Formats: sequence, C-alpha cells, structure tokens
Amino acid sequence: MPYTSGFVIHPFAPLPEFQLPLAVHIVHLSFPNTSSAIAKTMDSVHEIAITGQNLPAKYIYTDSINPSQDPSIPLPLLEIPVIDFNRLATPSIGTGEELERLRSALSSYGCVMVTNHRVASSLMDRVRLVFKQFLALPMEERLKWQKEVDGFDGYGSDMIVTKDVAVVHDFTARLRLITWPEDRRQMKYWPEKPHDFREVLDEYSSKLRVLHDATLKAMARSLNLEDDSTFLKVIREGGTISSRFNFYPPCPTPDRVLGLKPHSDGTVITFVLQDREVEGLQVLKDEQWFRVPIVADGLVLNVGDQLEIMSNGEFKSPIHRVVLNPKKERISMATLSFPQEGKQIEPFEGLVSRERPRLYRQVKYNGVAQLGYYQSGKRVTDEVRI
Ligand code: OGA
Ligand code: NI
Repeated sequence: MPYTSGFVIHPFAPLPEFQLPLAVHIVHLSFPNTSSAIAKTMDSVHEIAITGQNLPAKYIYTDSINPSQDPSIPLPLLEIPVIDFNRLATPSIGTGEELERLRSALSSYGCVMVTNHRVASSLMDRVRLVFKQFLALPMEERLKWQKEVDGFDGYGSDMIVTKDVAVVHDFTARLRLITWPEDRRQMKYWPEKPHDFREVLDEYSSKLRVLHDATLKAMARSLNLEDDSTFLKVIREGGTISSRFNFYPPCPTPDRVLGLKPHSDGTVITFVLQDREVEGLQVLKDEQWFRVPIVADGLVLNVGDQLEIMSNGEFKSPIHRVVLNPKKERISMATLSFPQEGKQIEPFEGLVSRERPRLYRQVKYNGVAQLGYYQSGKRVTDEVRI
C-alpha cells in the first residue's frame, strides 16, 4: 500500500464477507482530572485545542507525514478538473462534452471541483457559520448533542472499532447527522443552538440531495448506461445521506499529526464543502500528495468505494487526507451517501464485458466494517478485488 509508507499502520485481520471482528473494541476517550460527566465525553480533541494541553501520544505519528519532502517546500497544488454542473444538467447546451469531461476526470482523478451547482453561496456561508457558532458554545451545551459511544450520529470522535490499540487517532472533532430520508433523522442529535442550526442544515441538505441525485444520474449517463438511475437506485433502496461537520484545530506540529489519515471514502459519493480560507484537504495522485485548492463556491466531489465497485473500476475512489494548519483552525462539511446496511454491492453487469472483466467480488455493505478499514489504513476495494 504505497500511501501508507512512512506511517505506522498496523494489520487488521481481513473481515470475511464484511463480518465484524469478534471483539470490537470501543475505546472511551477520557481525561484525567475532570468530573465524571466530562470524563465520559468523546469530545477530547476540542478540549485539547481549547486548553492548549500537550498532545497525547495517540495522535502522534512516529515519522513525518511527508518523509521525503523538504518541509520548506509546499506540496504542489492539484490541478483538479472543474465540472460545470449547469452544463451537465442542461441538455440544450451540450451535455455530451461535459459528461465526457466528468467521466474522464472520475476515471483518473476520482474527484472534481463542481461549480454552478445551484447551491447559493450565501447558504454555504450559513452552513459554515452555524457550525462555527456551535463550536463556540460552552462544552456543556455541545455535549447535549454528543454521540453514543457505539453510534454514528451526534457530536464527538469516531468510535474505535479496530482491535489495534496502537492505531494513530485523527485530530478532529465531528458532528454527524443523517439528513435523508427525513424519517431516518435522529433529532436528538441535531443541535438547537445556534437557533437556526436545524433550519440551515435542513435547507442545505435538501439542496445537496438534488445535486447528489442529478450527479449520480450524470455519472451513469457518462458511462452510457441505459438506465440513468442505475447508481442512484442503491441510495433510493434503503440508503441514507448524512452530513458530517469536521473541526480541525490548529496544530503546532502538523508534520506529525493528521486531521484525517489517508483514506478513500466508504460512500457512494461525497461532496465536501471546504473552509473558505484554510486549506487542508490533500489528494494522492501518481504516488504524490497534492493540495486541493479552495475554489470560491466550489464543492469537491469524490467517488466513494461503493461507486468504484459498482462502476467496475471505471470511476476511482481517490485516496485523500486532511493536514492541519499550525496557526489556524479549519472546518469542512462533507455530504455522504451510503447504501443500506447489508446491501449487496457489486459491479453493474452492464459494465462487465470481455474487454473489461469483472474487477470486484460482491460484498455486503457494512458501516462498522468500513470504519474498521478506515482506521486500519485499508480499503474495501483492495479487499474485494478479484
Ligand atoms: C471526509 C473528508 C475532507 C475535509 O470527511 O471523509 O475527507 O476537507 N473530509 O474535511
Ligand atoms: Ni474523506
């Protein structure tokens, strides 16, 4: 696995058919010298950032995250393909060319910058603002929306599902909420402060759902599939869309600590709303890390592992990571679509042929196993490759 070189990545026993490891370790993050209510919290990253305490060893890599890179030279900027969503969605102005640009970009880069996506810039700013306002609330208020230790939704750090206690933790705090379908929303985790948090998320997520659906259809059309709902069906048949707000505190030693370790998304697709000012997202291409530029009002679209499998490898799920800034905090918000738990994911038969043999076995989607792969520096696509 070239992308893990220089990292302490520990083995994670293969999970046959995506079954869970027998002993799932769920590590409670706790603090010395705090009240028991606080000791229960999983909000450690945020409090470390506020109190300026020394970084616990579990966040620190033994080697530089860029072993062969001269630290005085910044990594190159990614020439990320820009896709004009308006062109994709308006047949009269020549979708064909833009569809081909989309197909080509997703088969080489696996990610594109989407512009003209019909999500108002002011709404994107409100999403950033309500999250910043939430982060500025006193801890007691934030903890009202704390996730369960073994749950996905709510505020806090991810549960650790790998047996490997030496896994290096990400220096990030997250708030994850299912937004679609509406009857899957768990309102007990949706902050009520700031007062317009719920309204803003509701509005943004409904816009993103429209963009998500139209994008999956365009992706199917770009591969000349007869039914342009081929990929979208996987979401419609019991799947979900979530919003994940990410907070990355400043870090004085950004060459030894990561906001998010190298990974590909376990999603169908992901849209990332980046911080307006602070870079941090990086993509691995041709074994070299590149900085993803901040494009005003652009949304980064990533192919996820499930779509790589369904497209029989026509689209690539890119490896990416988040680095920290020594002085400035960074926020982002990812919109993630997932299949239903237990859903069989496999290459679409229309994309398998003599010229293009089937690349992946069938797998059952399993959210916890995906998290285990993530934490162990593995990828489901590697595990099920034929
Ligand atoms: C993610 C992710 C990128 C970012 O949430 O999976 O890659 O910029 N986020 O925060
Ligand atoms: Ni990601």
